[in-house]
Amino acid sequence: MRKPIIAGNWKMFKTNKEAAAFAEEVKGQAAVEGVESVICAPYTALATLVEAVKGTGIQVGAQNIHWEDNGAFTGEISGEMLKELGVTYVIIGHSERRQYFGETDETVNKRTKAAFKHGLTPIVCVGEKLEEREAGRTKDVCREQTVKALEGLSAEQVAQAVIAYEPVWAIGTGKSSTAEDANEVISYIRELVKEQAGAEAAAAVRIQYGGSVKPNNIKEYMAKEDIDGALVGGASLEPASYLQLVEGAK
Ligand code: G3H
Repeated sequence: MRKPIIAGNWKMFKTNKEAAAFAEEVKGQAAVEGVESVICAPYTALATLVEAVKGTGIQVGAQNIHWEDNGAFTGEISGEMLKELGVTYVIIGHSERRQYFGETDETVNKRTKAAFKHGLTPIVCVGEKLEEREAGRTKDVCREQTVKALEGLSAEQVAQAVIAYEPVWAIGTGKSSTAEDANEVISYIRELVKEQAGAEAAAAVRIQYGGSVKPNNIKEYMAKEDIDGALVGGASLEPASYLQLVEGAK
């Protein structure tokens, strides 16, 4: 059985103080039996957040990781640095990184390997742009991104990974994919994992949907067989809304 996972992606929102205030508000309410809850915060809030959410059941994730352990890479953060803080998850290859910061399938693969090297769970993002969807290329794009991201990983690693299917046109737009469409693509991604890493890994890997997920639609996604949770941007920023999402994933 795959444990549902709700991951909030705060993107470039919340200062250190705001992150601490969020943690204070969710204290005592955030743990929902049978659901894993994660918040992926900006680097500057990670240390504070790890301390502040202790005992709440929330785990803390970063939004990127460099593939080297250290070196002359100005502005980058390594797995070792994240691990030492108590971070357990890391988002890799978010479409905003691909679009604005030159992230490629190759660097996504390197970062994913680095996450495993340091005992962090990667949340690997894949998904098509609007023009790709309109050209009927959704599955081709997801195939390319998924296969390359997982290249060279062991079946055990793939089984532990989280994949987030995020159609780019649905991110922050309020235009969410229907649960049926999302489930169809996610089932396809699970098939790809099966081809690449075997049936056991495919049955174990958790695949989230992301793109305008809100407390009022989370249950529609969670009702689908292949959808194991959500990667949520905007709706993860308010404590009440985040708690409703975690509750809705039960
Ligand atoms: O990582 C999260 C996604 O980009 C979704 O963002 O929930 O604001 O649409 P959103």
